[in-house]
Amino acid sequence: MTQAATNPPPTVEQIARHLFDPVQRELIEVERELQRQLHSPIQLIAQIGHYLHRGGGKRIRPALLLLSNKLFKQSATAPVIRLAAVVECLHMATLVHDDVIDQAELRRGQPSVNQIWGNEITVLMGDWLYMSAFEMALQERRFEVLDILTSLTRQMTEGELIQLAHIGNMAITIDEYLEIIRRKTAYLFSACTEIGALMGGATRFQRQALRDFGLNLGMAFQLIDDVLDFTSTDHVLGKPAGNDLREGKITLPVIYLLEQASTQERRIIEAVIHERDYKQVERSQVVRLLNKCGALSRARAVAREYAMRARALVEDFAPSSSQRALIEMTLFVTERNR
Ligand code: IPE
Ligand code: IPE
Ligand code: MG
Ligand code: MG
Repeated sequence: MTQAATNPPPTVEQIARHLFDPVQRELIEVERELQRQLHSPIQLIAQIGHYLHRGGGKRIRPALLLLSNKLFKQSATAPVIRLAAVVECLHMATLVHDDVIDQAELRRGQPSVNQIWGNEITVLMGDWLYMSAFEMALQERRFEVLDILTSLTRQMTEGELIQLAHIGNMAITIDEYLEIIRRKTAYLFSACTEIGALMGGATRFQRQALRDFGLNLGMAFQLIDDVLDFTSTDHVLGKPAGNDLREGKITLPVIYLLEQASTQERRIIEAVIHERDYKQVERSQVVRLLNKCGALSRARAVAREYAMRARALVEDFAPSSSQRALIEMTLFVTERNR
């Protein structure tokens, strides 16, 4: 047998399984912290908090914070663990609100909070999660951290609002699209890596590198999320696939398609947006169009460019298990299937 046959490159699954290894112990502590944080003497909050915690998720954001921190410090301090829980809690808050806005019925493989408890309770629970996250962050009394978190939260909300303003807008430009995903997703990634570095005592230059690493990684992550929305299934994603176009969200693959679409192809996209459903047009028909004109592979290529930029930013750091994991993360976000 050849060397290549005995030693195939690691699959995405293998990478994913070992990606967080350097911070495995810390991630367990983050789970404990989250569990504590999601608890409340108010029964309804405790019930939803428990439900959210049980829903799991990939925990990419706390892992990024911890890995960035580990580049500079051997072991995570209690404040670092708490801040890793804070960023996951903020992420949960955005997901809970996002599912109300998107009327999504599935999240992390289980019925969404809005599906079970209705919109009113869910919106308030999202607010509660935001506020709990900030309360937890405030405990650290680190002005710079709070600065990052508040500006990030504002940017995320602005991202969702700009996105809503563009619902159904088939003339949305690539730059406008990129601005939305930067705000709604990439800044949180960037905050995670920057806070990790900051808490590890990084220099200003190192902190900037980690911030930019997170930003580029986050862009790649959302670009792929938008591709997976067309190519994957509810079952694999644990959330509704095909929702973006149905909701009138024009993402990069559709922008590419529209650039070169015939009148008839344009009508197909219009039909889904107007109907807010895949009834007249089947989702597979749209996916076929996207594949035919290379829109999905072009969007994937853009994601890879961002991932490469991210990679270049951490390659100069001294080799360590966490540096390797951050580099592998750039591979994982673009090759992932969920
Ligand atoms: C979902 O994020 C929201 C996006 C930014 C696309 P994740 O894909 O990280 O969701 P979980 O935390 O694993 O559920
Ligand atoms: C992610 O956008 C927005 C958030 C920051 C929550 P999506 O609407 O694409 O996220 P999913 O696909 O529902 O997870
Ligand atoms: Mg959504
Ligand atoms: Mg999505």
